[in-house]
Amino acid sequence: MTASFIASKAHAADATAPGGGTVHTLIIDTDPGADDVIALLFAMASPEQLKIQALTTVAGNVPLAKTSRNARLAREWAGRPDIPVYAGAPRPLLRTPIHAADIHGSEGITGVKVHAPSQPLADGNAVDYLIRTLRAAPEKSVTLAMLGPETNLALALTQAPDITRGLRELVLMGGAHFNGGNITPTAEFNVFADPHAAEIVLKSGVPITMLPLDLTHKVLTSPERIATLRGIGNQAGRTVADILDAYVQHDMQYYGLTGGPVHDATVVAYLLQPSLFKGRKVNVEVDSREGLGFGQTVVDWYGGLKKPANVTWIAEGDAQGFFDLLTQRIARLL
Ligand code: BDR
Ligand code: CA
Repeated sequence: MTASFIASKAHAADATAPGGGTVHTLIIDTDPGADDVIALLFAMASPEQLKIQALTTVAGNVPLAKTSRNARLAREWAGRPDIPVYAGAPRPLLRTPIHAADIHGSEGITGVKVHAPSQPLADGNAVDYLIRTLRAAPEKSVTLAMLGPETNLALALTQAPDITRGLRELVLMGGAHFNGGNITPTAEFNVFADPHAAEIVLKSGVPITMLPLDLTHKVLTSPERIATLRGIGNQAGRTVADILDAYVQHDMQYYGLTGGPVHDATVVAYLLQPSLFKGRKVNVEVDSREGLGFGQTVVDWYGGLKKPANVTWIAEGDAQGFFDLLTQRIARLL
């Protein structure tokens, strides 16, 4: 399997950051989650390129109260009190809620102690925030990074379909094709946790880039890569290394991998340096019928269905390039 083109996100109207790279007006929708926390630290350490307007939280890896607490902790650890955190959907649209405490720990962050963050949640619900913000935004101006189940955006799109106008692109971690699933043999967690929401999002008509397990299971930690993060010598590097040391154990054992994926952080690397990745524009639909394929992303890799492509499906990435970039950015934090 080869990806057929080098992904490139440059739009004609994009601004370029002083050191290079596209500037994104960004909202991050997330269910922290150990890998989400690393993604959030990575993003918040990149202010010249990622103009983060807010973090919006959703139930996923752990229940909403904990994902919201963990997003606030990530904000505190990154020293970014300026970024509001809005709590969103406490459960999926239709299906029975599921969580992944077996992988992320009962608090939703592995390897580190959690505490009550000093700064509270922002007033109001994440879904209302998305509707209000996207309605007020210039056309095609906001990038939405999605690191968890897609319930918040599905609710916003259902209540206010006109918000697609304000969206530049959705960049989301989710789905699996060549790799197979991680929560069932066919399904990846974020899509399986709310397949009906994923269906709404995939049919929204907004440009979508997906970073699925096909990619994330090729961008793996190694003891050396974690040691390099720890070796930065700052608190953030120690935190990331402590989280990873614990988080990768499950996947290394379960899949027999030499290292573990850091799924959600690949979304941030893609926004910062898309040339690290390769993908293909394909048609992707979600199976939301009860049965063995529940939550599966059905990817028409060879175009046999002759349906319009709705997704740039990222299948390959430069793993060392990813860890170099992550290390460089984490080194900017305290
Ligand atoms: C995805 O599921 C969650 O457990 C991770 O945070 C990531 O978003 C990987 O399948
Ligand atoms: Ca996640």
